[in-house]
Amino acid sequence: MNKTEFQRRRQRLMKAMGRGSVAIVPAAEIQIRNRDADYPFRQDSDFYYLTGFAEPEAVAVLIPGRKQGAYVLFSRARDPLMETWHGRRAGQKGALEHYGADQAYAIDELDELMPELLDGCDTLYYTLGGRPDYDHQVIHWLTTMREKARAGVKPPATITALDPLLHEQRLFKSKAEVQAMRRAAQVSAQAHTRAMLSCRPGQYEYQVEAELLHEFRLHGCVPAYNSIVGGGENGCILHYVENNAVLKAGDLLLIDAGAEYQHYAGDITRTFPINGRFTPEQRALYDVVLKAQLAAIEQVRPGRRWNDPHDTAVRVLTQGLVKLGLLKGSVAGLIKDEAYRKFYMHRTGHWLGMDVHDVGDYKEKEQWRRLRPGMVLTVEPGLYIAPGSKGVAKRWWGIGIRIEDDVLVTARGCEVLTRGVVKDPDAIEALMARSR
Ligand code: GLY
Ligand code: MN
Ligand code: MN
Repeated sequence: MNKTEFQRRRQRLMKAMGRGSVAIVPAAEIQIRNRDADYPFRQDSDFYYLTGFAEPEAVAVLIPGRKQGAYVLFSRARDPLMETWHGRRAGQKGALEHYGADQAYAIDELDELMPELLDGCDTLYYTLGGRPDYDHQVIHWLTTMREKARAGVKPPATITALDPLLHEQRLFKSKAEVQAMRRAAQVSAQAHTRAMLSCRPGQYEYQVEAELLHEFRLHGCVPAYNSIVGGGENGCILHYVENNAVLKAGDLLLIDAGAEYQHYAGDITRTFPINGRFTPEQRALYDVVLKAQLAAIEQVRPGRRWNDPHDTAVRVLTQGLVKLGLLKGSVAGLIKDEAYRKFYMHRTGHWLGMDVHDVGDYKEKEQWRRLRPGMVLTVEPGLYIAPGSKGVAKRWWGIGIRIEDDVLVTARGCEVLTRGVVKDPDAIEALMARSR
């Protein structure tokens, strides 16, 4: 993504903020895993969205209309010794030259300079509560300023959350963002294909996870979230991440895994038979979930409301469950009583972007909002027949199925970004037969 993309984003945000305001956007912090070992650093999505700057210990300050420059970036100073130990830093020269900052300061100067930057601004855009550690710092700056009231210093009178403005912007993906998301989707799809081809009874779930990770890293991606690789009844645990059980012939394998490419997430779920052939019960349930997913994707187009894909999925799933004898009663009544929740207990999707569960409101004026071009969402219905389910014949127990794709709303309808991995059950069997 080039410099102008980030510049456009800052300009759009500052236009929405208006003059007399200031926004403070802190970078993510390094998270300690244990003792001297850190988790892999992942930049804060809001911060990266506005800066393209991937270092920790940084703060972006945006002040629309400021004479000396609207975009001030605080970051770590160059330091040969620290860089020898911990890696390269852009420094202030780099911030100006490569990241489009109008002014760049060392992060050590933050406390001294921030009150000056805030002075005279009426409104501070900062999201309180999101980062408690940082809230203290912001309050500290404001307090310092109040202490200097007699010197004519005036802190912003209003503090308001930045999220509504910024997250509404992030909800609609630009051309460059769509390109990045297509790539994330493509690598994710390749990883799932690789898992289908390599999967064998007798392997451990983590060995299939290794195939996914291999494909991600091979293409410069990292996992967008912890991969779920659940064989048999583990597929009925929605957030199963142990991934340490043996895969058995005759069971299904549910994989929910996505690659993150340039800070954009893919999010795919596929469910397939470990030995390459569906049993009749697995196939019957799979057909219902697939039918629900395809019908839900049909609902993804401009003008439809956020909940339309979900309502459609619920209807098709409930019809299917009645037909198979897993639910008894009228479809309308079962939907009204939410009887389907015994087997389908989550929603049909979420916004997708830099965050897997991406930002953006789902309602406007208390109604589910309408889909518009540029939005990206997942469509992920499933059915989970937990072992021991009361009133359910044993032959259905332990079958967990979810099918998840990433879908871009376009002017005419939608584009399924993750179409690179098969989901038709015959196509899955044909693909798996090829490698056996
Ligand atoms: N992988 C998280 C989700 O599907 O929502
Ligand atoms: Mn998802
Ligand atoms: Mn998922």
